[in-house]
Amino acid sequence: MTTVVSIVSGKGGVGKTTTTLNLAAALAERDHYVTVVDGNLTTPNISLHLGIPLFPTTLHDVLQGKIDITKAVYIHESGVRVVPASLSVENLKGIKASDLQRALDPLVERKGWILLDGAAGLGKEARTVMRVSDTSIIVTNPEIPAVTDALKAIKVANQIGTPVAGVIINRWTGKKHQMTLNNIFEMLEKPILGVVPEDQKIQECISQKKMFFHTHPQSRTAYRYRYIVSNILGQPYPRPTGLTGAFKRTFLNY
Ligand SMILES: Nc1ncnc2c1ncn2[C@@H]1O[C@H](COP(=O)(O)OP(=O)(O)O)[C@@H](O)[C@H]1O
Ligand SMILES: [Mg+2]
Repeated sequence: MTTVVSIVSGKGGVGKTTTTLNLAAALAERDHYVTVVDGNLTTPNISLHLGIPLFPTTLHDVLQGKIDITKAVYIHESGVRVVPASLSVENLKGIKASDLQRALDPLVERKGWILLDGAAGLGKEARTVMRVSDTSIIVTNPEIPAVTDALKAIKVANQIGTPVAGVIINRWTGKKHQMTLNNIFEMLEKPILGVVPEDQKIQECISQKKMFFHTHPQSRTAYRYRYIVSNILGQPYPRPTGLTGAFKRTFLNY
């Protein structure tokens, strides 16, 4: 069976789409069958990140009952399967976000993962994405506004009855003004699956419509994604080779 994981945050712009795509690529690297589905129905994200704005078929066609979801899957060169949402607002007519569950059904048979890239906020779209998933992962930044919204997202998940697997802290710099991991853990009381640093290369990749993990597989940040995937799978972390001494210790701390 497929495990459906929603990536949510409460606050917008913390890195849900970035995290979803790079975790998907890290799972695909381990030969997992992964499909990323854009849960941002009114403001699609995936196609903007991957630079494929004019898909002939999208999730909207699936939700409108025009096609089966398997006909809206695009295979990225990383091996990740992608179901984009439509960028055209006109295509939104008649679509209920709650139809998502039914739309995903044809993908659910197969052993693998569906990563649902959640919408910003905690409105109907974001809730629907949580409702149809087996588990949610919360993405946050080490700052009070983001962590406060992450806490709200956890509460909403509790209300809906979707378990929260843990929290990913994105855009970590280690600077004094950022919250510490302890503070974040004390506030959210969920396992911290990993920390992804602030990395300009991620921004460069987004502007070039590239999937960071795929184009920078040996970067330190790519290993952070591998670390998170190891935590999700409960499998050993593939430690990078060639690192020694203090650098290795610091690096492996997170
Ligand atoms: N680890 C990171 N390092 C640097 N910039 C990042 C990182 N993660 C995300 N960003 C920046 O934040 C922006 C928003 O990320 P995105 O994944 O689109 O957030 P969301 O999906 O939560 O709205 C990106 O366009 C990118 O510029
Ligand atoms: Mg997004």
